[in-house]
Amino acid sequence: MSFPIAVLASGRGSNLAALIDASEAGKLSVEFKLVASDKADAPALRHAEAHGIPTLALDPKGFPDRRAFDEALFANVAACGAQLVVLAGYMRILDAAVTAQWAGRMINIHPSLLPKYRGLHTHRKVLKAGDAEHGASVHFVSAELDGGPVIAQVRIDVRAGDTEDSLAARLLPREHALLTACVDAIARGAVRERDGKVLFNDAVIHTPLQLDGRGQLAIA
Ligand code: GAR
Repeated sequence: MSFPIAVLASGRGSNLAALIDASEAGKLSVEFKLVASDKADAPALRHAEAHGIPTLALDPKGFPDRRAFDEALFANVAACGAQLVVLAGYMRILDAAVTAQWAGRMINIHPSLLPKYRGLHTHRKVLKAGDAEHGASVHFVSAELDGGPVIAQVRIDVRAGDTEDSLAARLLPREHALLTACVDAIARGAVRERDGKVLFNDAVIHTPLQLDGRGQLAIA
């Protein structure tokens, strides 16, 4: 049976596209109930429509404050029957009432090795710090921005001559593999959250999971 998910995306939607590709290839057993965005012109919405997935665009300007916007958005998410919300390049901070309501049922992909570099411009921050390594994390969403328990990470080397663009381009396909594996593991019940900790096959993990040679999550 397919696991019902909703995806929120503000822009390009390549992570969404990776999930759709995996699902259409029979490698990910999910049903896309809704793709929603805070940007009516987000390419992610057009991509979802082209694959027959219901979409919703809500403009934050039409609401008095963040809470009102998030209440309206997540009323739609709840109504669609999703059991998991995937933030795939969703660039708005969420109201704490929503993160509490969806605790353990909402994940986010972030382009850094959390807890390093929360927020924006992570590639720039890596270069400025002179780090030898960069990466991406998928975590359960908490009230703290990019702060919830980390499920899994991928790593790439930083090379001489790297720019923000080259780092982003090299990381992106790894992000796609990471997000797909995390959604798959949650859909299969292999990953869940309990009391702010990540459980993998019912055991608490103490370091983020990584991808094995088959692109599945494994203990690091
Ligand atoms: C991805 O790199 C994702 O990690 C990042 O936005 C990009 C979206 O790309 N997310 C964040 O920075 C969230 N803090 P996409 O629209 O092609 O999936």
